[in-house]
Formats: sequence, structure tokens, C-alpha cells
Amino acid sequence: MTFKTLDSALLAGKRALVRVDFNVPMANGVVTDDTRLRAALPTIAKLRAGGAKVILLAHFDRPKGKRVPSMSLAPVVAPLAALIGAPVAFAEDCVGDTADAAVASMKGGDVLLLQNLRFHAGEEANDPAFAEALGRNGDLYVNDAFSAAHRAHASTEGLAHILPAYAGEAMRRELDALDAALGRPSKPVLGVVGGSKVSTKLDLLHNLILKLDVLAIGGGMANTFLFAQGWAVGASYCEPDLADTARGVMAFALKHKCELLLPIDVVVAERAAPGQAAFTRDLGEVDADERILDAGPRTVARLAAAMDGARTLIWNGPLGVFEIPPFDAATTAAARHAAALVKSGRLIAVAGGGDTVSALHHAGVANDFTFVSTAGGAFLEWMEGIPLPGVLALQVA
Ligand code: 3PG
Repeated sequence: MTFKTLDSALLAGKRALVRVDFNVPMANGVVTDDTRLRAALPTIAKLRAGGAKVILLAHFDRPKGKRVPSMSLAPVVAPLAALIGAPVAFAEDCVGDTADAAVASMKGGDVLLLQNLRFHAGEEANDPAFAEALGRNGDLYVNDAFSAAHRAHASTEGLAHILPAYAGEAMRRELDALDAALGRPSKPVLGVVGGSKVSTKLDLLHNLILKLDVLAIGGGMANTFLFAQGWAVGASYCEPDLADTARGVMAFALKHKCELLLPIDVVVAERAAPGQAAFTRDLGEVDADERILDAGPRTVARLAAAMDGARTLIWNGPLGVFEIPPFDAATTAAARHAAALVKSGRLIAVAGGGDTVSALHHAGVANDFTFVSTAGGAFLEWMEGIPLPGVLALQVA
């Protein structure tokens, strides 16, 4: 795919409408994690350096076309201004007189954040009239919100057809990293997929099997696979109704020569609670009242060996209940092993999805992976092989 990037844009004095993803964690009106604000900084800096007027478009939460005061983007202004090191103006509406007046008063290098796009129903409906109203305030459009690119909304899709459209710096980095992981990867490619539900990851598993050499399955979903193979899983989380589906996935992997790695040992306890007595069990040794809450050490050692043999790793989903020690052991050990391989230049490791990023932070290696996506749903849809409307709309024919 080819995109126009800001390197080729004439910026001086231009009004740049920049779609960012400021759908950030917030508690009592205070931003509690500024990762997504930081992600937008390179694009903002580049536009300001070129003398553009930077008009930021963003959504927060799901107000469903209504003005919901608790879903205002106003709390983002102060932390963003602190990160940029310059004032950030705020307009209480993203279209109409308020927005038009705020944009009209801007000078080159100024930064303005417009109020939550989703206060207008036209945003999610990708209403052409709403896109036109947004577009009136721009000379060019920059999409820097990969994590919202699975939405075909006015600001993520419609605007790209109205104004000259560019991929922002974060979008470009993200697309490059994803291409290196699944598009044109150095082989062999290893995937790690965890999380609890097979049902939500079926499309993802099928798509990955077509692209990977080895796929390791962990987390609660591995229990369903073990159950499908006839192993007792005790009182573990499991989707018995999906046993046939899991067997279908295993047959699909065999057919497409993707080696499937399921746990060969597990860590069990009576409950997923801190301070529980935990035991390592071989398959076949899980008692009826025990719950599988993590992968065992032999499973981790085999996964580490698979990492040693891979050139590229793509990771989504934890291997165990990492939020509750000691059930974080497998995820942390595997993440640290991958990070060490990246550091020594032997592995390209890309990870994404909400839980995965938290798990890597928990393991202290989020900054040591080649790339960690800030996207949740968009990352999953990309792993499923679904074309993302926000990315497609940027494509140069
Ligand atoms: C996200 O947080 O994943 C994106 O901002 C998309 O948000 P949405 O799921 O509300 O569309």
C-alpha cells in the first residue's frame, strides 16, 4: 500500500485537520495514561515545524451523537499542552460557528483541539454533510489514528475523500511495523495468541494460520483446545461447546503447515485470587476442583525455544491471569525472553491489543519490543485480515 506522507506536503500556513485517537483512560476527569497523547506528538511537531495550523480531531468514549458533558475532551488539553510545550486552544464544538471562529483565529504553528466528534451523530454515520462541515476548516487531512481506523466514520474515512489525505507519523510507523510483522515478514514467523475466548478469536486464528510458521496458543482459550484434545481441565474457564471448532482450527493448522503449540504443562489453583497456593501440573493431572490459570514452565521453555528459532514474533493476548501473581509468571518470562532477543537484534517483535500492552508493561519490557501498538479493536481486526476503512481511504491509487 502506498500513502502520501507529510514529507511531501506543503505545510506553511495550511490548516491541517489531524485525526488523532485521544480516547484515553480517564478517571474523574483526569487522564490516567497519556500513551495515546504521546503517540500524536511527532505529527504535531512536524506540522508545527512546517508552519501549519494544527487542528486536532478526536473522539472520546461513545456519547452516541449527544452532547454528554462527562465525555468532553477538555481534560485532554492541559496534559497535551504540557507534552507539546506550547498552548493548546480548545473549541467547544467540532463544526459550525464555534469551530470556524476558533480556526479562523489561528496562526501558523498554533494547536487547536476540537470538541468530541461523536457529540454529532454524523460522525459515526459517516454523513457526507458532517464530513463537509469538518472539511471546511482544513486545507489538508492527516490521519494519525490507526487505533480508530477500523471505524468508517466521517473523521476517519469520509474526510480522506474531501481533502488531500496524508498518513501521519504514528500511522506510518504503525503500518510499517505491521507490514514487517505480517505483510512481508522475515521468516520464520511465530505468533502468540492468548486471552480467554476462542469464540472472539476464531477469525484471527484462521488468518494467522495462513501466515505463520508456528502459532502458540495460551490463556483461557488454550483450555478449550486442551479439552478438545480430551484432557481434563477441571474447573477451568473453558468453552466446551467450541470443542469441535477448536478441533477444526487444529486441522486447519495441519493442512496449512502451521505448527500449533498448545500448553504441555499448566499452573493451577482453586481460585484466581492473590496469595492462592499454586501448583504446576502435567496434562492429565488437573483435578476436578482446580483451575488452570497460567502456562507451566515447560510450556514457557518450549515457547522460548520457538522464539529463538523465529525471526519475527507477533503477539496478542496474555498466557495466564497476569494481573494476579503468581499467574503472571509465564507471560512475564516469555515477554522478557522476546525482549532480550529483540535487544540482541535476533528478533522483530510486534505486540498489540489492550491486555497485551498491559502485560508487557507489567513485565517491564513494553519499550523493548520492536513495536507495541496502541490499538485495541483495530489491531485485532488487522490480525483477522479485515481491511481497515481508515487505512484504505488513505491509499494512493
Ligand atoms: C479505541 O479506543 O480502541 C478506539 O479509540 C476506538 O474506539 P471505539 O471502539 O469506541 O470506536
